[in-house]
Amino acid sequence: MPTLAQNGGARAVPANAAKTYWPVVTPEDKRAVAAVLDRNVLWAMTTLEGLRCPEQDALEREFAAFLGARHAIAVNGGTAGLHMALVASGVQAGDEVITSAYSFLATPAAILHAGAIPVFVDIDPRTFNLDPGKIEAKITPRTRAILAVDIHGLCADYDAIEAIAKRHGLLVVEDACQAPGATYHGRGAGRLGRAAGFSVNGTKNFSVGEGGFMVTDDDEVYYRGNWLKQVGETLPADNPTMRHQHLLAWNYRVQEMPCALARVQLRRLAEVNERGRRNAAILDGYLQDIPGLRAPYIPAGCVSVYHKYRVTLEPEALDAPPRGHALRDAFMAALTAEGVDVDLWGTAPLPAHPMISARHGFGRGLPWSLHPEVDYSDSADQYPITQRMFAESFCLGNDEYPIYAQSESLMHAYGEALRKVARHAGELHAAAAWQTAT
Ligand SMILES: Cc1ncc(COP(=O)(O)O)c(C=O)c1O
Repeated sequence: MPTLAQNGGARAVPANAAKTYWPVVTPEDKRAVAAVLDRNVLWAMTTLEGLRCPEQDALEREFAAFLGARHAIAVNGGTAGLHMALVASGVQAGDEVITSAYSFLATPAAILHAGAIPVFVDIDPRTFNLDPGKIEAKITPRTRAILAVDIHGLCADYDAIEAIAKRHGLLVVEDACQAPGATYHGRGAGRLGRAAGFSVNGTKNFSVGEGGFMVTDDDEVYYRGNWLKQVGETLPADNPTMRHQHLLAWNYRVQEMPCALARVQLRRLAEVNERGRRNAAILDGYLQDIPGLRAPYIPAGCVSVYHKYRVTLEPEALDAPPRGHALRDAFMAALTAEGVDVDLWGTAPLPAHPMISARHGFGRGLPWSLHPEVDYSDSADQYPITQRMFAESFCLGNDEYPIYAQSESLMHAYGEALRKVARHAGELHAAAAWQTAT
């Protein structure tokens, strides 16, 4: 059995193995951005004919068509898109919004920006999406919406979520930031709630650096979204130079250059997602033969876009001295020495982050104060499945080198590295705690 690289053996992934840095920028991308500069329409200009923003208009049409949705509104970030989706759907200050204990902090931040209160639900241990079986226990007379997250590019369980929402008269809003192109029983991500937010931040399968969308099939939500994006203004058809202020809103406008780049990247998105699925299938093939390591679980009827590929350790099946976080960190260190890119992507349930948990300092001014009679205190211990996921799993690939950008041969090398480290589990020793920027 070859020696572990961290003990002086040869790396499973050679140092000169080709890896693709993400996002990929092609000559076509550069030409599209240069053409905007040549045209010198850099923003949504108000003209006598109305707004002039050809790239934004085309991008909104093309992304809506990609999703099969009626409307897409381009905005300057996924957090902005989610915030708009919540408010345009009808979430108001003081409402409670149920969401997953596992997501990026932007998910509860969007709820808080709406003046609403995030109420968390633990995750399903296999899909890592919010567990519908735990939603009803969190519903109160103040609950207005469920903000489901399609984590890692896999849609949440919307049949179960919708049934609960219907029973209790709640809105469903979708955080599809990681999931453009994913499907749930034939329905596309972004069309599974009243409105959805998407991100095109640099780490995403559909990547433009920064930016996002609000998507909806509902005309009224669409109109409200457009006002919210544009500091509450519209240009009435009978007088395109006069602005009407409808609502207190924000400036979530976009620039033409990123829209032009997004249009070209969007043409490649189906191919990126397909590569992600093909590479995931290669990794799945290795993992099914490696005792003690488990591949991501994709329920029947779901198609994931593998924004992240999370590997779960089964400590009982691994003859390794370290346990818990220490075992995970030892695995990550050994894989890194083999030349594999790994990432934690998150470290604690969202309610454990100071933004949420510090209800006494800075947190005192946040929307919790709208219901002073309610105790919203929470602790990470209330989310044991999310905690266990963090302790016993890690992601293959990272933001710079995600699996959906890589070659099949690199995935085979990753598979060999996983097999090698698992076989040597008995030699692993507690490594330094894994560092993460997330
Ligand atoms: C699940 C999820 N929600 C929301 C966001 C926020 O998107 P952005 O960073 O574009 O604001 C992200 C990504 O960053 C995300 O992964």
